[in-house]
Amino acid sequence: MRVLLTAGPTREPLDPVRFLSNRSSGRMGYALARALLAEGHQVVLVTGPTALRPPAKAKVVPVETAEDMLAACRRHWSDCDAVVGVAAVADYRPARHSGDKLKRTEGQGLSLELVPNPDILATLAKDKGGRLAVGFALESGDGKVEALRKLRAKNLDFVVLNGPEAQGAEQASLRVFDAIGKERHLGPARKPTLAKQLVRWIFGRIPA
Ligand code: C5P
Repeated sequence: MRVLLTAGPTREPLDPVRFLSNRSSGRMGYALARALLAEGHQVVLVTGPTALRPPAKAKVVPVETAEDMLAACRRHWSDCDAVVGVAAVADYRPARHSGDKLKRTEGQGLSLELVPNPDILATLAKDKGGRLAVGFALESGDGKVEALRKLRAKNLDFVVLNGPEAQGAEQASLRVFDAIGKERHLGPARKPTLAKQLVRWIFGRIPA
């Protein structure tokens, strides 16, 4: 299979030196890319900025913003058989991007206007036909209801639920739900181990 995989955070610029982003390290996405390659799949890794070395055998497409990530994914989606959305896409971006560095005005606050970013996975999965779409849901608390809502809302085949403690961590626990409500627990384990188990569970019966 040829798998389109999004990973890492996005960066939403405010001015030439500042951006809005999040704590995603990209570890889970890169571990999944490695696990897919090890099983003989091809991987197009569309990745936000991370400190990680990408797997040598992946086709790597580096991006910064959510809009760049969507454009890059659209270019590659027609050649792919599956999409796995692991990226922590910023939900909002600044409404305006200043070409000059914003100046501080002594004693005055600053309000930022934010506008919503596109939902990359939902956009791709809408027209997936028979292709496979897998998403992640990061929820605090139980999260099952919200994960299943996202599975339906984004037209996914599988949703992988994890907690906020997984962000940036070496280890995690996951719950995987499929479209008929079957659930599987994985971990706690290091992300490379979890990635192998996930790939085996989700792509196991599909030939590379
Ligand atoms: O809605 P939420 O951000 O929790 O959804 C998580 C899933 O959707 C992840 O797989 C994430 O990569 C994907 N997503 C996306 N584009 C967005 C927001 C989320 O692809 N703008």
